[in-house]
Amino acid sequence: MCGIVGYIGKQNAVDVLIDGLRKLEYRGYDSSGIAIVDHTGLNVQKAEGKLANLQEKIKDDNLHSSIGIGHTRWATHGRPSDYNAHPHTSQNGRFAVVHNGIVENYLSLKETYLAGEHFTSETDTEVVAHLLEKFYNGNFEETVVKVLDVLEGAYALVMVCADEPDKIIACRKDSPMVLGVGEGESFIASDVPALLAYTRNCMYIEKGELCVLTRDGITIKNHALEVIEKEIHAIEWDAEAAEKEGFEHFMLKEIFEQPAVFKKTIAGRIQGASVHFDEFELTPEQVQKWKKIYIVACGTAYHAGLVGKQIIEKMARIPVEVEIASEFRYRDPMLDEDTLVIVISQSGETADTVAALREAKKHGCKVMAITNVVGSAIARESDYVIYIWAGPEISVASTKAYTTMLIAEYLLGVYLAQQKGMPNAEERAAILDGLQNLPEITEQVLTDDYLAQIQNAAEGFKDANDIFFIGRGFDWAIALEGSLKLKEISYIHAEAYAAGELKHGTLALVTEETPVIAICVQESTYDKTASNIKEVKAREAKVLAIINEGDDQAQKFVDQTLSIPKINNFIAPVLAVIPLQLISYYTAKARGCEIDQPRNLAKSVTVE
Ligand code: F6R
Repeated sequence: MCGIVGYIGKQNAVDVLIDGLRKLEYRGYDSSGIAIVDHTGLNVQKAEGKLANLQEKIKDDNLHSSIGIGHTRWATHGRPSDYNAHPHTSQNGRFAVVHNGIVENYLSLKETYLAGEHFTSETDTEVVAHLLEKFYNGNFEETVVKVLDVLEGAYALVMVCADEPDKIIACRKDSPMVLGVGEGESFIASDVPALLAYTRNCMYIEKGELCVLTRDGITIKNHALEVIEKEIHAIEWDAEAAEKEGFEHFMLKEIFEQPAVFKKTIAGRIQGASVHFDEFELTPEQVQKWKKIYIVACGTAYHAGLVGKQIIEKMARIPVEVEIASEFRYRDPMLDEDTLVIVISQSGETADTVAALREAKKHGCKVMAITNVVGSAIARESDYVIYIWAGPEISVASTKAYTTMLIAEYLLGVYLAQQKGMPNAEERAAILDGLQNLPEITEQVLTDDYLAQIQNAAEGFKDANDIFFIGRGFDWAIALEGSLKLKEISYIHAEAYAAGELKHGTLALVTEETPVIAICVQESTYDKTASNIKEVKAREAKVLAIINEGDDQAQKFVDQTLSIPKINNFIAPVLAVIPLQLISYYTAKARGCEIDQPRNLAKSVTVE
């Protein structure tokens, strides 16, 4: 999704902006641009495509200024192009604006306030620049407030005014932004990695606040332009954590980080045979009150929810429904105070999930978030938060965030059962024991030997047009995640089916041309899945099975196997999904795909 950077201080703003935008490339974008205030007034440069195109365009211009704003755009209103790229300017070139989100009433604003004006782009954002000019009364801050009063929608806005070249003004509603506090310089960005090279001191901006950045510091004001005191937080992510550390792609690096981040997700939360969360405590009465749970999320986080349903239902015996966030709020779900809504989101900013959270709150439900990003909208607006502590995930295809979401769900399942007073203490202790062993066991699927087997399997998949994933129960839930991963980075059409469902229609598509990846890890469904594998084998499909170490049956009815080390079967999904992540990675690599930034996709989806 779009990235924003703003800078005012002692360095050349052009260098800081380009460097910051490069750190945000992982968000996905289709064009970029910067605006600086120099001796000519506002100087705006933009280019479609990669940031390198913008750098090429300005390389001989010797641009220099101590103030500027920059943007990487992911198209919503208007196709990717130079003219739709941000920053956008007012008619007289006095104001420049960069924007993340959507101004929903931009058409009616054009009609009401800007009739007859000439627009140079198809964007909703350009309306904001024109309104600044229209409402300008010689005071930049007051003018911004007047513009905000008429805007509807979601936005993070950063603005400069050629007449007041000693300040940047920023504000947000629903789209994220973070301020960086420097010495003699101030920064703003849509995401922390853009700041890390310059400062570790940051401030989070709340909805409706106005930030005035100058060389001497940052002032936060409310709507009445009264100053608000803000706490400065230290950013704990180090710059190195946002680099590739020698791996060819962020995705592979993040797959390899899993054992280490599993330790972080668990750290301090398992105390003897029970679970404790620093972030909140639930009383037995509270947990007993919840007669139903909804898990609401999108994409990979939704797939994590499908595993979570099975964990919570089994451990805490509370019925759970899992819903896609973009569907949930439009179908009038039956929510009340006896319902807990769990929202899962790596970024904590996914627009559909945020909207679902607000819908749940409207009905008086308590909302629990499972998220990675401290200070994100979802973290701020939920009643209880479980952080997955996965660290920055740069690859668009999520890996370590997914597996740490599962770990958070195991901890939560045990916690709800324990607080509810369920009699399954022994089972809970076994799960916690398994979770503690998980980091070490995971190392065993990240050896050179194992990777060589997977690369070999990927060679067999790279020319396929369609691949099916099958499994039952937990194995089906991770099959869904495996198929999403494969399609998003390798562009091979992949579908996941509950293994028993194939014969009700989809089996008609299975031929020798459609490889099948079967997940046969769950002991309780092993025999049934084996029967379904025989059905696809009878149609000449080549089958790769993910099995438990020591399974000497599978070789007899599949073409190839990849085993995972033996672990408590209930927590095996965390381990069994890792070969699926690696199959996607090596298949995409064998096809020469751009793995970390797949086409048409963005890391953080802040539009509905
Ligand atoms: C796929 C992927 C997406 C996200 C989805 C929700 O690899 O990462 O499907 O899971 O866009 O994002 P978050 O978790 O940030 O709400």
